[in-house]
Amino acid sequence: MPRAFITGITGQDGQHLAEFLHNKGYDVFGLVKGQNNPRMDLLRDEFPFVQPVPGDLADLPSLVKALETSQPDEVYNLGAISFVAMSFNQAELTANITGLGVLRLLEAIRMVGGTSNNKIRFYQASSSEMFGKVRETPQNEMTPFHPRSPYGCAKVFGHDITVNYRESYDLFACSGILFNHEGPRRGLEFVTRKITNAVARIKLGLQDSVTLGNLDAKRDWGYAGDYVKAMWLMLQQDQPDDYVVATGETHSIEELLALAFAEVGIDDWHPYVKQDPKYFRPAEVDLLIGDSTKARTKLGWAPEVDFPGLVKLMVENDLRIESSRNSR
Ligand code: NAP
Ligand code: GDD
Repeated sequence: MPRAFITGITGQDGQHLAEFLHNKGYDVFGLVKGQNNPRMDLLRDEFPFVQPVPGDLADLPSLVKALETSQPDEVYNLGAISFVAMSFNQAELTANITGLGVLRLLEAIRMVGGTSNNKIRFYQASSSEMFGKVRETPQNEMTPFHPRSPYGCAKVFGHDITVNYRESYDLFACSGILFNHEGPRRGLEFVTRKITNAVARIKLGLQDSVTLGNLDAKRDWGYAGDYVKAMWLMLQQDQPDDYVVATGETHSIEELLALAFAEVGIDDWHPYVKQDPKYFRPAEVDLLIGDSTKARTKLGWAPEVDFPGLVKLMVENDLRIESSRNSR
């Protein structure tokens, strides 16, 4: 059986990828940080097939040990401080984990066996946030980077060091430049899930309104379940390379609000939405829309869930969770 090691196993993508690889017959190992990680119960209950390995992206020896324990064929680096808003307040931590964490993991792979005899394949979770103040539209693999947050800057470092290690040490290292992807497992801090959860609670009479920041931003939103397949496909190719993964559509937060409220029969969302400057960011990414032609042609990848389908899926999930929580 092939063996996969995933950092960020407790996050949205880690959960989707673990499920995907398990269904493909992989032995799945996941890096879990902290002495009593609050998400260990979730891992044990919903992903009993995942073998947890202790460690932290801030700690090189723990990464070496984790690779020695799991002996993976494929390493997926999904662990990061991933919330852009938080990165403005904890910029040094973000640089250390989201940026330098990539370097540490690449070094661990070199130490444990990433060279031609024992070739570990490596996937880096790069981000459309690297395009930031976009230099062209849509954005593809050749579009120059102009990050707009400490998170974006750290991701640029992670991306560049992945390319550099591939070129310098003949590592099979790929970088997926993924545009926003969401789903029922999305953290409540991100705007899609914050909205779908609030819509469900408003429908059930559990809250009156939702308070947001900038409603004008536009994102290329896809479904996380579709995107983890692209990660895996990158590591199955003959040659390592970098790929943009996106739907090719962009939508504003106002469109998201309209669809989510319509899902519970509310035609006008305006009375339910407030704005607070505390949710505005010091610098914003106004528009993202990806050109994933390369992934579609070379990997044969295509998204299956469209934007209205994604919003429906998330609202239905939050209605289910909130009704069962409040009927107890
Ligand atoms: P997420 O839900 O926020 O998960 C982040 C994961 O990183 C969690 O499992 C977290 O573990 C782990 N982590 C945080 N600090 C760590 C540390 N010091 N050492 C080891 N692990 C650590 O993020 P996601 O949405 O699944 O995204 C996965 C990756 O893709 C991230 O790198 C993100 O930046 C990138 N990305 C995401 C998107 C998107 O739209 N979702 C788009 C492009 C790129 P704990 O639970 O223990 O904190
Ligand atoms: N989170 C949040 N909360 N965002 C809000 C809010 C709010 O109350 N109100 C408006 N927004 C706007 C943000 O200013 C941003 O323009 C947009 O909604 C999306 O914010 P997030 O959902 O937090 O995601 P993100 O685009 O900043 O980052 C996500 O996607 C990146 C890929 O482009 C994260 O998953 C990153 O890890 C990922 O790399």
